[in-house]
Amino acid sequence: MSPAKVLNVGIVGATGVVGKEFLKVLDQKKFPIHNLKLFASLASKDQTIEFRGQSHKLYVLEEGCFQGLDLVLFSSGDDISKEWGPKAVAAGSIVVDNSAAFRMNPEMPLVVPEVNGDILKNAKRPLLVANPNCSTIQLVVALQPLAKNFGLNAVRVASYQSVSGAGKEAIEELQNQLYALLNNQKPQDPKIFPHQIAFNNIPQIGSFAENGFCSEENKIMNETRKIMNLPDLKITAFTVRTPTLNSHSEAVWVTLKEKVTKEQMLKTLKSAPGILVQDSLSESVYPTAWAVSGQDPVYVGRIHQDPNDPYTWLMWVVSDNIRKGAALNAIQIAETLFP
Ligand SMILES: NC(=O)c1ccc[n+]([C@@H]2O[C@H](COP(=O)([O-])OP(=O)(O)OC[C@H]3O[C@@H](n4cnc5c(N)ncnc54)[C@H](OP(=O)(O)O)[C@@H]3O)[C@@H](O)[C@H]2O)c1
Repeated sequence: MSPAKVLNVGIVGATGVVGKEFLKVLDQKKFPIHNLKLFASLASKDQTIEFRGQSHKLYVLEEGCFQGLDLVLFSSGDDISKEWGPKAVAAGSIVVDNSAAFRMNPEMPLVVPEVNGDILKNAKRPLLVANPNCSTIQLVVALQPLAKNFGLNAVRVASYQSVSGAGKEAIEELQNQLYALLNNQKPQDPKIFPHQIAFNNIPQIGSFAENGFCSEENKIMNETRKIMNLPDLKITAFTVRTPTLNSHSEAVWVTLKEKVTKEQMLKTLKSAPGILVQDSLSESVYPTAWAVSGQDPVYVGRIHQDPNDPYTWLMWVVSDNIRKGAALNAIQIAETLFP
């Protein structure tokens, strides 16, 4: 539901992959906006972006720039959020931040509305709400109804993540490499990814920590425990960047506390908010990254029981990382805060 009140809205990172999707989702939802103030880097200063038939100038961040804004959506990376997020809150804005800067801060809510949106009901304002990592969001939407109905014992997830998750320069890097290789040219050395991504799979997203996991894996494991309020959940993630343009796919092994039937699994997932089940093996029906791009739901398919452990179920979870994994989830948070 769009807010009843007309709001003054700021977007930091408006020229980025997530920033542009913010504008698309706000428009599609007919989000009531009075003033729209768009921010990007110095490189974009004085350029304009069209929104609802009007041309909007791009501003750089400077002291006092958030004055009068009710809501500021940040998607410009950790350092910018760390520096400017608290300034927007101090100026009286509600901030929804897409970066990882505040997600694991115990003082800051980390929210997926279908899972823990209720924690925002009594939150003191102004405030900053962290939007989780894209791979975490789709995972917890799929896990929540199973946790609520049957209890969770353990989760294992292997991800197949698209290049759009790394921003606009990452999309260009894949496209340029593909173009070069298909034209028998040598591709340029990679700048965004640690290896060539075209026709490849890279088992590293972010930097490695001492525990042998990369930052994306640690984000999925830690953020899932926080959002689901299951601090002791046994969860292990293995993340892989694939040469897909958009949408992240996840193979998930979920061990429940109860033994359930496939009918119970289907009924529970089909009736859960934000989920669309596509599961018909005889017709090869299951979600794919290409097909779900541009769509809102978290798609679940290939739901089947582990023959080695009747408490464990496998499922394939796919969602648009720019949409539910970023812009849509952030705007759903804003809708919860401005009913
Ligand atoms: N892509 C995803 O699936 C996804 C999902 C969840 C969260 N996120 C997070 O969202 C954030 C943005 O991701 P993205 O994929 O949209 O990246 P992106 O496509 O690379 O866009 C980055 C944006 O930040 C702006 N920017 C850079 N320096 C700036 C500065 N000094 N002041 C103001 N704006 C500045 C850029 O403006 P210019 O065009 O002027 O350079 C651009 O608008 C990151 O924190 C990312 O981790 C991304």
